[in-house]
Amino acid sequence: MIDLRSDTVTCPSPAMRRAMAEAEVGDDVYGEDPTVNRLEALAAGMLGMEAAVFVASGTMGNLVSLLAHCGRGQEAIVGDEAHIFHYEVGSASALGGIVFHPVPTSADGTLAVDAIAAAIRPSANRYNLYHYAPPGVICLENTHNRCGGTVLDPAYFAEVAALAAQHGLPIHLDGARLFNAAVARGVPPTAWTRHVTSVQVCLSKGLAAPVGSIIAGPASFVDRARGMRKSVGGGMRQAGVLAGPGIIALTDMVGRLEEDHVNARLLAEGLSAVPGIQLDSSRVETNIVVFNVQDPAEADRLAAAARAEGLLISPFGPGRLRAVTHYGITADDCRRAVEILRQM
Ligand SMILES: Cc1ncc(COP(=O)(O)O)c(C=O)c1O
Repeated sequence: MIDLRSDTVTCPSPAMRRAMAEAEVGDDVYGEDPTVNRLEALAAGMLGMEAAVFVASGTMGNLVSLLAHCGRGQEAIVGDEAHIFHYEVGSASALGGIVFHPVPTSADGTLAVDAIAAAIRPSANRYNLYHYAPPGVICLENTHNRCGGTVLDPAYFAEVAALAAQHGLPIHLDGARLFNAAVARGVPPTAWTRHVTSVQVCLSKGLAAPVGSIIAGPASFVDRARGMRKSVGGGMRQAGVLAGPGIIALTDMVGRLEEDHVNARLLAEGLSAVPGIQLDSSRVETNIVVFNVQDPAEADRLAAAARAEGLLISPFGPGRLRAVTHYGITADDCRRAVEILRQM
């Protein structure tokens, strides 16, 4: 099977499996797991943040971050195509009483700064007492999953940061694939993180760790996030067996993301030449390829037919499909995927 459904299907490398077996461990809820402590210090340094905490997943990282930023009844201003809004079970609302305030997402994954400004409504002033839920946090996503792995400009982050500072609001970055953005642009992740308050980064996608995400930010934020992690059942004990591969994800696997980007471009160029597929391959910057077929009803049928030929891709909305390159996918796999879809 050529599995292009997601980079979440990656399996740990042999070095990661060794790290799991050999990890020095302790009780992390007491702060005594040396491997977890090493991972958190390493990640905080790479992300240019004061502190970091290891969590079970990207979804947990985003949830715990929002819980740490917002009280019940506060708004999270979020793109209407954001992973946080679409795919995280509404957990910030369900568990934290946080109100999502969605704003339109542009094709490149940005939210118009004017639209964010309009979403920051006065919480209680002389003329407008207590109509609105007060704003609590602005959420951005980079790379942007539903927009096709687009990379947002650091300059755009600076603009949103200026607006956020004007209103005293924190920014949370869903940086599930922030290292893909960094590799694609040839800059460190701090190019973006210097403009935000907190960030969530997945170790388990293209970086191939079996489990886990990092959230990072100021020490006071990370302290609150640790408490929230515990309250959603995410206080892990001898978690060094998971942090060990997480360290390898950060030290050994970042560089290889370039290979995924090259393969994604190869895939995109091949697909864009297939009659019936609509795709602008020049917009593929990282490891996600989103494409359209003419008939909106066709996406599900095409994905099912491809499966029968040994290719897994994800239906991604009416007439849309998504293919993601990752650790374990070769250039030949991408050529074969194009051939399978061309035959269809
Ligand atoms: C942009 C983005 N954020 C968050 C997540 C959630 O990560 P996890 O699957 O580890 O919960 C994903 C997962 O695909 C994602 O693409």
